[in-house]
Formats: sequence, structure tokens, C-alpha cells
Amino acid sequence: MKNVVVVGSQWGDEGKGKIVDWLSDEADIVIRFQGGHNAGHTLVINGTTYKLRLLPSGVVRENKISIIGNGVVVDPWALLDEIKEIESKGININTENFIISETATLILPFHKEMDEIREDAAGKGKIGTTRRGIGPAYEDKVGRRSIRVMDLRSEINLDQRLEVVLLHHNAIRKGLGKQIFEKDKLKNDLLKIAPEILKFSQPVWLKIEQYKKNKKKILFEGAQGILLDVDHGTYPFVTSSNTVASNAATGTGCGPNSINYVLGITKAYTTRVGEGPFPTELSDEIGELLGTRGKEFGTVTNRKRRCGWFDAVLVRQSIKISGINGIALTKLDVLDELDEIKMCVGYKLGEQEIDYLPASVEDQLKIKPVYKSFLGWKKSTKGIKSIDDLPKNAKNYIFAVEDFIGTKIASISTSPERKDTILIESPFEG
Ligand code: GDP
Ligand code: IMO
Ligand code: MG
Repeated sequence: MKNVVVVGSQWGDEGKGKIVDWLSDEADIVIRFQGGHNAGHTLVINGTTYKLRLLPSGVVRENKISIIGNGVVVDPWALLDEIKEIESKGININTENFIISETATLILPFHKEMDEIREDAAGKGKIGTTRRGIGPAYEDKVGRRSIRVMDLRSEINLDQRLEVVLLHHNAIRKGLGKQIFEKDKLKNDLLKIAPEILKFSQPVWLKIEQYKKNKKKILFEGAQGILLDVDHGTYPFVTSSNTVASNAATGTGCGPNSINYVLGITKAYTTRVGEGPFPTELSDEIGELLGTRGKEFGTVTNRKRRCGWFDAVLVRQSIKISGINGIALTKLDVLDELDEIKMCVGYKLGEQEIDYLPASVEDQLKIKPVYKSFLGWKKSTKGIKSIDDLPKNAKNYIFAVEDFIGTKIASISTSPERKDTILIESPFEG
């Protein structure tokens, strides 16, 4: 019996949604443990596309339980909109198949406004956030003034909690010359939707305990990627949560011994959306080609994603930091047309050779990638479902990836479709 954590090993958008949906066939429960609706996870099933932001990617399958853990920051209106949207596609969300942790932190309209105020004021120094209020909501959580799902249960309590959080926000807003945020309208708006949210709320830690006793298989679905982790990523150009696998335990309320396997989702090249260092970024026609073939536009903000060569140094570092046991390699088919494919296998910082990403942004911007070159395969791999059917040069590239990152490739994805996936080793058995 295995519980599996899925994390992105780069800067997000590695194809976590596709792989979680594919793996959820074998799981009983799928749980999100961090992030919020800054995530955009895409599933393509027999030609139908689903774009999920807060709902776990097991939600489209019948007889699975989807959970939003305490570590997630939840915009209640965004959640209700998403439920409506997915229900319009014929998926039923009810209190039997969907649970939200009663201790999850809420993202409120003033969080989104604060995100926007800061990004607009930062000019060139902006982070390039998704402007969803993620950072400000996590700040309030750590500042012990956030409103949590359970605070919606009582008007008196909600009133007091809003008083506390708005005292803080309005002081900043006044300082920035912005209008103060009115409590009463927000309180009434929240009370209006409270029953719709509260009906799904439960103590998730207790549910997990029961699932474990009943030998259910749990799939923990990470959002973003290890390089966006607030501790281990390219700080300050990161998100405001821990994206590493160990946060699956904290963000849901189980111990680290509930995690048996960590699967790192890894794109066959690299992308990044938003600002920040990107050593292998390509600003030439190859970068454009990767973006076009890979349809590299943000699921949430529709921003163009920056594209570059595969960076084996970064992925190797993510593997170590997050304790990744195996890799799901995605988007191999995007490389099909290239004559030559490059992989970064080290960096030069001035005359010095280094084999990890230095911690300071200053150095991260200075380093130059050292590349190894591979012959392209110039054949379509789209939809291939067996490793034996891959062209020889594609196999060479895959084996080289495995070799440089020092970790087994457990599956290979060859199109956005759920079924177009080569299974090498199931994380539930591996
Ligand atoms: P996530 O945030 O990690 O879930 O990834 P996104 O859904 O934001 O972005 C990944 C994009 O790549 C989506 O449009 C997927 O449909 C698509 N995708 C996933 N796997 C593959 C693949 O193997 N090949 C191709 N061509 N597209 C893929
Ligand atoms: P999924 O789960 C890619 C990036 C933003 C920005 C930084 C901070 O789909 O892989 P935030 O709004 O979180 O404060 O923004 O993090 N970012 C993502 N990039 N994929 C994501 O999620 C992301 N979520 C946040 O672009 O650079
Ligand atoms: Mg995404």
C-alpha cells in the first residue's frame, strides 16, 4: 500500500494535472496540500479539456474523493465558480466526494487587491505573481490574523476576526493612500456564501486517519514547482508556500511517514512564467518553437511562458530537496522537430564551475549554463504508449536525462491526453 506525493520539479506547469488525473485511476483519494487558485492544472480526456485551479485533479473520475487540505489558501468565490464550471461539464461535486479542510485559510478580496497594489508599485522589480492574493493570504496566516473556513460558522466570531485582519490591512492601505476596506459588506457577502462552503468542511486530518485504517490509497497533488518554493526556490521570485513534498504532510494533517513515494513531474525542457532568473532561457527562434509546439501559455493568466533547454542541474537539485523517488517526464513530443537538443549539465560562475544553483539572485543571474548536445529524432512521438516504439535518439535523450539527474524515469508523457502515457514503473508499486 502506497501513498504518493506528486510535485513539480521545475517552475510549475510541468503537467502535474495530466499525471495526477492519470494516476488517480489507482488512487482512492486525491488531496491538494498547498497553493491556491494560482495553480492551473490541465486534463485532457478523450478530447475534452478541463482546467482546474483549486479542485484536485482526480475530480473528474467517479468514486474518488477530492480534498482541499489545510495548507491551501482558498478564495471561496473562486471555489464556488470552479465547482459550477466543472458541474456544467457533467461532473457532480457533492458532500460525499468533496471535502475542504475546516482549517484552510481564506483568500479575501483585500488580499487580491494587496497583491495588485504591490505588483503595480514594484515596476521592474515585480515578482510577476498571478495577482490572485496568494502571498498576502499566506502572510496573514503566518501573522495569525487570517479567516479560516470554520470562522464562517458564527457571525460574532467572523465579525471579530474581520476586525483583527482589517485593522492590519487598513493601516497599510491608509499608508499607501488607498481607500480603507469596509468590514460590513464583506461580512455579509461571506455570510451569504457560508453555507455553500461549510457543507463541504471537515477535519481532514481525521478523515486521513480513517482512510489509512481502511487501506485507501492517497495521492497528494502539489501545485507550482520546487523552484517556486518559498524556502528552496529562486527567492524572492517564488510563490508564498512550500511546494516541496514534505509539505504534503503539514498541508493535510498527517505525518511524513504517511508518504511512501514522491513523484517529480518534469518537463523535457524548461519553462517559467513570471519574473526571475532562468539560466537556460532561450530568447531565439528555438525558444519560440518550444512555446508554440508546447502551447506554453499560462493556464491561469494566459501569459506567455518563457522557454528554454532542459536544466539537469536544477532538476537534480529539486530531486534532492524534495526527496523525489521517480520522475514522470512530460512533453517529450514537443522536442520532435528539433535537429539538436541541448541539456544543461553544469554552470560557470566566472571561471568557477559549479554543479548546483547558487542561492543568491545576483549569482543566479550571472551563471552561464554548460551544455551537452544531443541529436534530435525528427520523428513524431505524439501518442506513443510504449518505450520500444520511441525513436532511438529519443531514447538516448531520455537515458541521458536519467543519467544526469540520477533518478529513475517512471513514466513518459507523449501528448496532453490522459491515455498517451508510457508507464515504466507505477509509483504505487515502485
Ligand atoms: P500543471 O500546472 O503542472 O498541471 O501543468 P499545466 O496544465 O499548467 O500545463 C501543462 C500543459 O501541457 C497543459 O496544456 C497540458 O495539457 C499539456 N501537456 C501535458 N503533458 C503533455 C505532453 O506530454 N505533451 C504535450 N504536447 N502537452 C502536454
Ligand atoms: P501550477 O500549479 C507556474 C508563479 C507566478 C509567479 C510566482 C508567484 O499550475 O504549476 P503567486 O501568484 O503564486 O504569488 O506568484 O509563482 N506561479 C506559477 N508558475 N505554475 C504555477 O502553478 C504557478 N503558480 C504561481 O507566475 O512567478
Ligand atoms: Mg499550471
